[in-house]
Amino acid sequence: MKYTQGKYLILKKTAVAREIYSFIIKCPEIADIASAGQFVHIRAGNFTLRRPISICGIDRNKGTIRIVFEVRGEGTAEISRLNEGSFIDMLAPLGHGFTINRFKKVVLIGGGIGTPPMLPLAEIYGEKAVVISGFRSADAVILQDDFKKTGAKTILCTDDGSLGIHGFVTRPFTELAEKGGIDAVYACGPMPMLKGIAEICKKYNIFCEVSLEERMACGIGACLGCACRTLRNDEEYFAHVCKDGPVFNAGEVIW
Ligand code: FES
Repeated sequence: MKYTQGKYLILKKTAVAREIYSFIIKCPEIADIASAGQFVHIRAGNFTLRRPISICGIDRNKGTIRIVFEVRGEGTAEISRLNEGSFIDMLAPLGHGFTINRFKKVVLIGGGIGTPPMLPLAEIYGEKAVVISGFRSADAVILQDDFKKTGAKTILCTDDGSLGIHGFVTRPFTELAEKGGIDAVYACGPMPMLKGIAEICKKYNIFCEVSLEERMACGIGACLGCACRTLRNDEEYFAHVCKDGPVFNAGEVIW
């Protein structure tokens, strides 16, 4: 695993929804080797533990990456107080990303703040992708214009019905799976959502990868702080989400 650590310039900061921020960061050596599904580990102020944030965009020509994150505690609040022109301390790119293949039709499913890592995939697959995004309500919706720009078809759901389809992402996804023709599904979001998607993919025999979220300390497989139960060769195996994941084949995860 090749990664680097340093302080990188924040070129652009945008508030994309309440308590959700987008940073574009100049970091050519990270952008050069980063892939969809990997994450950055950020030191927030004087906090000892870094915060993992998934990569939402990679621009190798400009030497930048984009992250989109939600303020969930003191660490992420501290990160959100950084501004354009300041430097951010990152260890990156970390983890094992998504498998990219010559699939003809893929479905990308993001739930809430699990939506950002789907954007680099939409950029890769373009018109071959259907993006299903789910949020609790209209005011939490993010990245829909970015997804549309990639040429992907977008389907939006909200839990309370304030925008798009009323209900969970599993409903439109089930309809698509029933129609057939899907080569692969990639998903990131809350565990119950991922479990539901994994079950549908198993039923219809569709290749499925999920990106898991876990609290992390070292981020590089050294502290055992992010263990997750998986199956390898039919035997239970405690994988490191930071190093073996965050992306796993859905069939490997013990839900
Ligand atoms: Fe230390 Fe994964 S966070 S092993």
